[in-house]
Amino acid sequence: MKRLGVNIDHVATVRNARGSSHPDPATIAKHVMECGANSITIHLREDRRHIRDLDVVKICKNKKILTNLEISLNEDVLKIALRNKPNFICIVPENRKEVTTEGGINLSINSKKIQKIIKRFKIKKIRTSLFIDPKLKDVKIAKELGADCVELHTGKISDLIKNKKNYTYEYKKIKKCCEFAKKIGLEVHAGHGLDYKTSTILSKLKEIEEFNIGHFIIGESIIHGIKNTIKKFKKIFNT
Ligand code: PXP
Repeated sequence: MKRLGVNIDHVATVRNARGSSHPDPATIAKHVMECGANSITIHLREDRRHIRDLDVVKICKNKKILTNLEISLNEDVLKIALRNKPNFICIVPENRKEVTTEGGINLSINSKKIQKIIKRFKIKKIRTSLFIDPKLKDVKIAKELGADCVELHTGKISDLIKNKKNYTYEYKKIKKCCEFAKKIGLEVHAGHGLDYKTSTILSKLKEIEEFNIGHFIIGESIIHGIKNTIKKFKKIFNT
């Protein structure tokens, strides 16, 4: 059985568009859990373009919500994460000009910093994941740095599938990373750009235990409702 994490950043995007308090990410997070999601994901970006500090406080405080907080290596954001104690942390790269997280984090350049951060979360018993490109070298480094999990960036394979291009090479790369990660004791997650079709293809990889999906779920919910959308994904992941 695979787990579904729902990224609700774009609930905050809609709220912020009007500068008001509706829709409230904390209320939606609770509802998403009641609809059958296994966890919710929020990304506290340095520019606070969607999720804000108070959202993190409210969501992490609700113990009925399993919260996966995405953060960059920014010290201020890190302190907020440590203070609010989410259930899980996922360390991602961040670039102010990007529309979304464009690739995995560069583990070689940031190794010392990441190792120290993981240690700080371990003390608080917070599961830590590293968002990486599907490269064997990065899986190995993630283990050496003490991560509990790797989240493989699925943006490239998702684009290939959506554009009806050959994705065999990318699929094999992801498969090898999954097998290697599992073998060396890392839990494997996947995320970015996923929809029903890409999730169906990747769900064949038995090593992937968790899928984190945002943009497509929020968009699809406008037509079909979040409950039905989550139900459909759960069916994909549990068959
Ligand atoms: N996983 C991580 C680490 C991400 O940064 C994101 C995007 O915020 C997602 C998953 C979800 O990607 P998408 O919104 O394309 O489904």
